[in-house]
Amino acid sequence: MCGIVAYLGKNSAQPTLIEGLKRLEYRGYDSAGVGLLSGGKIKVKKCSGRISALEEILDKPDSSETLGIGHTRWATHGAPTTINAHPHLDYTGKIAVVHNGIIENYGTLKTWLKSEGATFASETDTEVISNMIGYFYAKSKDKTNSNGQNKFEWAVQHALRELSGTYGLAIVCSDFPDMLIGAKKGSPLILGVGDNEYILASDASAIVEHTKQAIYPSDNEMVIITSDGFRTKTLDNVSVTNELQEIEFSLEQIELGGFEHHMLKEIFEQPAALSTCMGGRIDVKENKIKLGGIASYLREMTHIKRLIMTACGTAFHAALVGEFLFEHLARITTETEYASEFRYRNPIIEDGTVVIAISQSGETADTLAAIEEAKERGATVLGIVNVVGSSIARATDAGIYLHAGPEIGVASTKAFTAQVAVLTMMAIELGRRKNLSNSEAGTCIKELSLIPGKISRILEQSDSIKKIAAANIDRENWLFLGRGFNYPVALEGALKLKEISYIHAEGLPAAEMKHGPIALISDGMPAVFIATAGPQYEKILGNIEEVKARGGKTIVVATEGDENIKQLADHLIAIPDAPELLQPMLTVIPLQLLAYHAAVLRGHDVDKPRNLAKSVTVE
Ligand code: G6P
Repeated sequence: MCGIVAYLGKNSAQPTLIEGLKRLEYRGYDSAGVGLLSGGKIKVKKCSGRISALEEILDKPDSSETLGIGHTRWATHGAPTTINAHPHLDYTGKIAVVHNGIIENYGTLKTWLKSEGATFASETDTEVISNMIGYFYAKSKDKTNSNGQNKFEWAVQHALRELSGTYGLAIVCSDFPDMLIGAKKGSPLILGVGDNEYILASDASAIVEHTKQAIYPSDNEMVIITSDGFRTKTLDNVSVTNELQEIEFSLEQIELGGFEHHMLKEIFEQPAALSTCMGGRIDVKENKIKLGGIASYLREMTHIKRLIMTACGTAFHAALVGEFLFEHLARITTETEYASEFRYRNPIIEDGTVVIAISQSGETADTLAAIEEAKERGATVLGIVNVVGSSIARATDAGIYLHAGPEIGVASTKAFTAQVAVLTMMAIELGRRKNLSNSEAGTCIKELSLIPGKISRILEQSDSIKKIAAANIDRENWLFLGRGFNYPVALEGALKLKEISYIHAEGLPAAEMKHGPIALISDGMPAVFIATAGPQYEKILGNIEEVKARGGKTIVVATEGDENIKQLADHLIAIPDAPELLQPMLTVIPLQLLAYHAAVLRGHDVDKPRNLAKSVTVE
């Protein structure tokens, strides 16, 4: 949700800002802008639309402009117009700010600032930040005060203390052409430290091309960067030391590598992503699972009374699969709750309740808030997160990283399968410590190790799945139906189709169809069934018959070698067999491909679907 990038170094800032914004564009893409320190002034260029539109209005890079800030926006306060695009200057024109987050008390501050003579050009909450800094800057007389702070730094610090809400900020001042200030609270911010150059950004993708060394400031910290170095301090002016860390992913991982879209690349990366996710964690020979990140919590977890899983979007669907897994394998009472609901529902957290938060980005605002709520009520909170060092990874007591590699496509794919793999490993390990026999656990571990290879075989069907998408491309309403472990996959299949092809789709437990949605079925309406081998197979055959009898078009994901299903399926996708509890990692693959091909056939921008953002850092 909005991407920020800033550069201070020896080279022209503009190319680094633009290339960084392109890498961050998945975070928001309705308007963009840059601000460059140029001849004692801040030169701002901004426009509505994508980074490509911004490039058209930029001047040629100037080697004397070595400090700048940039932004790609996902609108919250104010329409995606040029005026509302960032950077936002203050009313004196000396301060410029790019912001990711939401300022909750902006209304009150705006009224007060106006009464003090500040003027506003936009409808954004961000302009309150630049004006607040501008106000304090105008008040401060000395260039350097008794604390050794210069007036720019002092003004930022005092302004930020007045804000409630969340922010990741990059700030410049025209009187300080060699100073960049970053600050964060609840939104991500990383400072890449290169060879006499610094890149401040919302995430590492905008940094890795320049350096792999970075610091991760904490909430309520400011980082002050000049060409001589950087220092970090709290808003209370206490110095902080942030150790340099190595950024884990490479440039190669975030490039398209011959694929047309990041989403397709990430779908095809799933065998490798799952192998990395499980590598070193499962040992088939020794019949063991090793989960280092939560090792010290596993004993406690064998005695817990209740497990609550909380997440948003696709991660929520992975959590729903986890609910089945924990109940089935470890016999733990498990509930799954949307993070946005959990945080406001006055949840009951008794002794012996463990909360697991699941998130690809590790930055989702609702999930973060749910974690805080659970912690305040005394729960142990574990995280299942992809992005190393992200806010959720840091807010949880312990956790397991997905190690799925960067996910750029807005519609989540490989994170889902990796989340399910991690939940499966946790459930097997807890089950083994409780009620599962060694041989039962051993079978699960062995079967789990075969999943990446089976996914590869499903991926070979991409072209035939494309034909199924093409045959149904004019239909505006689809149903996705599954039972048991595959019910959450039906929800995920419908979400994928909605997100990127803008086709209306509903996911349901197949048996629920007769309680209402069956009324929707009319001639040719596509109904995607997951009818793989398992205890509910016979039941779902009945549901397929019901759709056929009403003229619906059946697209069926079934187990290889199932001859019965052929006469019921208008389109058949056969996948390798696996125990029911491991099937979600397989059955979801054709649904991801179906959504992908439908979106491409409809001519949509798959990696940047309208109105969506990859990382939702607002409520
Ligand atoms: C957004 C994304 C979804 C994602 C959800 C949760 O809505 O578009 O793809 O599933 O956020 O994100 P998280 O990073 O917490 O998994």
